[in-house]
Amino acid sequence: MKKISPSLLAADFANIESEVKKVTQAGADFLHLDIMDGHFVPNLTFGPPVVAAIKKVSTIPLDVHLMIETPEKFVDEFIKAGADYLTIHVESTNQTAELLKKIRASNVKSGLTLRPRTSLDAIKEFLPLCDLVLVMTVEPGFGGQSFMMDQVAKIDWLKNHRSQSGLNYLIEVDGGVSDKTRAHVENADVLVAGTYVFKNDYAAAIRSLR
Ligand code: DX5
Ligand code: ZN
Repeated sequence: MKKISPSLLAADFANIESEVKKVTQAGADFLHLDIMDGHFVPNLTFGPPVVAAIKKVSTIPLDVHLMIETPEKFVDEFIKAGADYLTIHVESTNQTAELLKKIRASNVKSGLTLRPRTSLDAIKEFLPLCDLVLVMTVEPGFGGQSFMMDQVAKIDWLKNHRSQSGLNYLIEVDGGVSDKTRAHVENADVLVAGTYVFKNDYAAAIRSLR
């Protein structure tokens, strides 16, 4: 069964605690937290203190998606804040292997992601170090964008490669996921959805994705 990771980017930030509880009650498996620095992506969100505050009120794992330059400067803080999955962008650092190893050594699940224009060749060598691989189906930076169909082949390749190589990373998809695009992401294990969950009835939206 697929896991659903609602993105809090589309939640009501004035009421984060009640949003976390409502979406958990509605059946969310993980909480997807989008961390943006205004440099790696042209938008700003929040940092480790907010993650730590969410950790205190959450009973489900935190799926933290870093969209920041030089993540090596901040990985320790996000681990301390309580990330359960910590995903870095391959384009954001030249220390990809070291960071993935460090995340795992801290008993946090390691994740690696790529922008739509980045090819799978850029992440292949790191797959043995990944507990999760995130395929972006929008250009990272904003919620509410349209699903990019041309990225689906990456999900399919990752599933095929996993069975051929004996690796066991989870495949996660992020961007424009809704009841309309659900059929295209059958090969993913974890579906991120921001707008679709938070702008509809939470439980019904989560049920329709699963
Ligand atoms: C975009 C973020 C997504 C975003 C998804 O940079 O990584 O997690 O919140 O939002 P929707 O589901 O609205 O496309
Ligand atoms: Zn995200």
